[in-house]
Amino acid sequence: MCGIVGYIGHREAFPIVIKGLQRLEYRGYDSAGVAIYDGSKINLSKTKGKVEDLKNKAKEISQAGTLGIGHTRWATHGVPNDVNSHPHYSNSGDLVIIHNGIIENYESIKKALINRGYSFKSDTDTEVLVNLIEEVQKTEGVKLGKAVQIALNQVVGAYAIAVFDKKKPDEIVVAKLGSPLAIGVGENEFFIASDASPFIEFTNNAVYLEDEEMAIIRLGKEIKLRKIKNDAIAYPNILELQMNLEEIEKGGYDHFMLKEIYEQPRAIMDTYRGRLLADQGIIRMAGIDENIEKFTNANRIIIVACGTSWHAGLVAEYIFEDLARIPVEVEYASEFRYRNPIITDKDVLIAISQSGETADTLAAIKLAKEKGAFVFGVCNVVGSSIARESNAGAYTHAGPEIGVASTKAFTTQITVLTLIALKLAKEKGEFSSSKFHEYLTELETIPSKVEKSLQSNALVETVAEVYKDSANCLYLGRGYNFPVALEGALKLKEISYIHAEGYPAAEMKHGPIALIDEQMPVIVIATKKGHYEKVVSNIQEIKSRKGKIIAIVTEGDVQVKELADHVIEIPETLESLTPLLTTIPLQLLSYHIAVMRNCNVDQPRNLAKSVTVE
Ligand code: AGP
Repeated sequence: MCGIVGYIGHREAFPIVIKGLQRLEYRGYDSAGVAIYDGSKINLSKTKGKVEDLKNKAKEISQAGTLGIGHTRWATHGVPNDVNSHPHYSNSGDLVIIHNGIIENYESIKKALINRGYSFKSDTDTEVLVNLIEEVQKTEGVKLGKAVQIALNQVVGAYAIAVFDKKKPDEIVVAKLGSPLAIGVGENEFFIASDASPFIEFTNNAVYLEDEEMAIIRLGKEIKLRKIKNDAIAYPNILELQMNLEEIEKGGYDHFMLKEIYEQPRAIMDTYRGRLLADQGIIRMAGIDENIEKFTNANRIIIVACGTSWHAGLVAEYIFEDLARIPVEVEYASEFRYRNPIITDKDVLIAISQSGETADTLAAIKLAKEKGAFVFGVCNVVGSSIARESNAGAYTHAGPEIGVASTKAFTTQITVLTLIALKLAKEKGEFSSSKFHEYLTELETIPSKVEKSLQSNALVETVAEVYKDSANCLYLGRGYNFPVALEGALKLKEISYIHAEGYPAAEMKHGPIALIDEQMPVIVIATKKGHYEKVVSNIQEIKSRKGKIIAIVTEGDVQVKELADHVIEIPETLESLTPLLTTIPLQLLSYHIAVMRNCNVDQPRNLAKSVTVE
């Protein structure tokens, strides 16, 4: 995710753009830039770092002008540095663009433009897009708006863009597909932004572009709205916003954590976008493709991580061994790095980290590399220390995760690891083409099934009300959902401060069952796939000791409904994909209990978002 801001009107653009970027930093904060048209030329400044760094660097340029655009970046293509920051010029220097999204087919477009004499300074897909627009302008002899429309009909991906031409500085052209874009409509002035927070103090009137819509914004004129595909006229629906600033940064949610829980359908889709090509029956992952022998010839895969990322690693262990038949060991990075582990050059080490800065995980990677292992990083922050230290990797495209409690990082990590396991299973001949295709098409349904699982939110809130004052809580799961039980317990512990433990359901009889009484709520993951009958027996053991049972079941379940005190349903899916759905009600349960206990949900006591200390 990135943040985009634009202004055209009667005020000085620079302060509006900069302040707007500061309000959008929650969307991305690894680099930032601004471009202002001063009446004769475009003055552009951009830098790796935060908007505050940009403010300091931009002192070098003239900040005068009433037309400007700005961008705060969450890198997806090209590491965070000055040259990859937005805005980007076209080769002529006449056009300048900002972009939030991913152009999937940018490489083929870039090759074609290079063959036509274009050169590129950055590694970004965005610089390709602005030069494609310029090329269309030249070859078709059309104005900016038409050139943008023609160009966007040639790209595949997601975008929210703003672009202007210094030859025609009385307009800005915007377009949207998959990423948000709002137009603030003022008195003889217009604002553009990823959400309304940059302009809410100037106007409450906003137009939210729909997917595949574009607009030509000209001073003194009505917004000219068009459908990108066929140039059909669209009519702007001007909304009068009632929100306040604080709410808008959270997208209308009370907390970043809840916002990020609800972002998971999009985050999972963005993570497999361009990689999962079900209709072609392929999974495309450059980091794996270029090192496939390392994986298929590996003695084993060692997974190192901490916290929630470690739980994602445990899910991966089940997936890799069950589907790809590759031995896997999952290690706490903090233990692995100190226990003098046996590592050889026949080992592949997968490091999982949302922040990409966790000290113990970074240290574990360095140790493994010293001993000859091949290191593959799964991170959410492009250009982070762990990403740079790894030999290869695959990013989760979850966008910034602001809430300290990891939610969308967990499900997008599992998505990446599932893609890798499926790719290796096919490569090793463990999967027939039909079985491979079955998994690919089912994985494509997961975002909508997560959406459906989120619909249990109101029911989960009523369950939270019943158990919010519990002193302890037990989470049980089997197979693929044992790690989900651990993750659910961690979520509850870290944001509501209730002591909770996750356990393999079968382990109950080896001790923990002594804890069961009517004061002990037990969350049991009892989906149809995965030792269902055995879990039902565990539930009966708990019930006979008066334990309170909250069961996560497959929709339509009747047997567990007879036994449990509360039942929360999730859609049916393949057993190996159930963690992507069973974790949703557990995230919501911990969230609502924490809110009811007046805990600081986004910044729990004693915690930090990234543990860069040992
Ligand atoms: C999870 O909710 C916690 N915030 C914490 O356990 C976190 O997962 C852990 O610190 C690892 O962080 P990383 O993924 O950034 O390496």
